[in-house]
Amino acid sequence: MHVAIIMDGNGRWAKERGLPRIEGHRKGAEKAEKVVEWAADLGVNYISLYAFSTENWKRPWDEVRFLFNLFVSFVKRKVQKMKDKGVRIKIMGRREGLPEEVLEVWDWVEKETKNGERMTVVIALNYGGRAEILDAVNKILKDGIEKVDEESFRKYLYIPELPDPDLVIRTSGEMRISNFLLWQIAYSELVFIKKYWPDFEKEDLIYALEEFSKRQRRFGGI
Ligand code: FPP
Repeated sequence: MHVAIIMDGNGRWAKERGLPRIEGHRKGAEKAEKVVEWAADLGVNYISLYAFSTENWKRPWDEVRFLFNLFVSFVKRKVQKMKDKGVRIKIMGRREGLPEEVLEVWDWVEKETKNGERMTVVIALNYGGRAEILDAVNKILKDGIEKVDEESFRKYLYIPELPDPDLVIRTSGEMRISNFLLWQIAYSELVFIKKYWPDFEKEDLIYALEEFSKRQRRFGGI
């Protein structure tokens, strides 16, 4: 079971409390850790978290820098716990443009946690669904390949072995995909939760999983 999450509403959560937006992200990162634990308890073995999109560069530099620093410090602080729990961490996105320190942590955390077998946590960083598809196409052209099918195309995605999400959850009430996992969500169920990400609770995850199990997935069949 692969659950992909668009963790939206950190900024609005902070604003409603008269706090700077970065406080929302700080709370959001803590919530991400909790959700990983809840998801593991509930039998989810893949979880993807949209932490920074290719469009997020448009934000003020202070906020962008804060998000990268948060990624670095969060990963460094949590890696031992994740290893103890059998969690493998994979980072997914475009490396180009990311600060050197972020790239170092990217490689380091993947190496450190590569033996985790209980669950895989994918952190999407400098990720865009269109960018991923274009990067795949350009690699295919570079390899001199003239024709691909779905199976061979998949091998060129950032994490080829990542199964398609069964369920996509987006918080904050917005009903958009915002360029997340475009190729992979072709048949995913979508569940939207009205709460802002920092307010997301275990009961919301349970609700989303129940909603998923109620829906009949036919993959285009009857
Ligand atoms: C969307 O809220 C959230 C983001 C762009 C960043 C998400 C990042 C985290 C939760 C922290 C990093 C996570 C890890 C796993 C290290 P928004 O800022 O768009 O909120 P708004 O729509 O209310 O402004």
